[in-house]
Amino acid sequence: MLLKSLLAKELKERGIYSLFIGHEKPSLQTLAVKMLIKGYGIVKGEREGNVVAEEEGIKLLKGLGTEKTGFIFRKGGENVIKNPPTSPKIVIDMGLFNELNEEEKKKTLVQLQMTLNTIRKFWWDGNLVIVDDFKLGKAVNVKNPQFEGKGIVLDPYGEIVADEGIIRASEIFIIGGIVDKGRRLKMATKRLAEIRGYNFPRVKITLRGSTVGVPDEINKIAEIIIRVKEGEGLEEAIIKTQSKADKVARILYDVHRFGESVLEEELKWLNADKKVENLVKARLGNIRS
Ligand SMILES: C[S@@+](CC[C@H](N)C(=O)[O-])C[C@H]1O[C@@H](n2cnc3c(N)ncnc32)[C@H](O)[C@@H]1O
Repeated sequence: MLLKSLLAKELKERGIYSLFIGHEKPSLQTLAVKMLIKGYGIVKGEREGNVVAEEEGIKLLKGLGTEKTGFIFRKGGENVIKNPPTSPKIVIDMGLFNELNEEEKKKTLVQLQMTLNTIRKFWWDGNLVIVDDFKLGKAVNVKNPQFEGKGIVLDPYGEIVADEGIIRASEIFIIGGIVDKGRRLKMATKRLAEIRGYNFPRVKITLRGSTVGVPDEINKIAEIIIRVKEGEGLEEAIIKTQSKADKVARILYDVHRFGESVLEEELKWLNADKKVENLVKARLGNIRS
């Protein structure tokens, strides 16, 4: 469940249908995350303001206006999310960090931070587990991982192809904290899974039979998983998460396999914009000349 839906449910159970939010961003998800990680919450108090947003039946008020509420969101208020979820778990395993070169290490840390940012758009820090001692927000750190429950290891060389059923039936998602430019470390995720003794199937995410065009950044793999867990189709989630470069790579791959007649169809399928189209055409022009 999205964290904002959980907050809306808790508020409605307490008879709260509107909140004065002062200078906060009018987003229920942002409020929910602040409640769990920064000590914000709800206090009683009469206020009037403008309705600047309404989400899941909760009106958010700020500024000057005539809409009345008896509740204010602010620092030190009551946290109404009494049992914040700790599952599903996105697990980033940093066990191969010391095999990366300096540039790769930097990129891995950036993607780790971006993974937390992504998780906070849907869930919260408690859904992120980092294996090894890398501190990040309120993410959970573990040294010797022993996960109970249904899980999968996300591995571009996995034997099993992911689908919505496999993802939705799982609660633990292991991702390698490995940013190896140009896939320098072959079968690294497999090795990591063996070192740790993860007793989970190794599952690869593909797009119509190939990993070409599937983003391989840690944060993007996490986002695909979260979107599917929250009800989106796998292909839809991949296409939404792709960068322009991912789209270009996949279109060129398919044009080389099937010929230029597939170009228009490919552009449509991958929701490619003019920039992607021009990049593809420029590359095809270069190849032809
Ligand atoms: C940049 S990849 C590193 C892959 C590494 N070179 C290997 O051979 O395993 C970083 C992590 O993203 C995840 N990942 C990337 N692409 C994936 C895909 N197509 N399917 C499943 N997981 C993927 C894996 O968990 C992987 O450990």
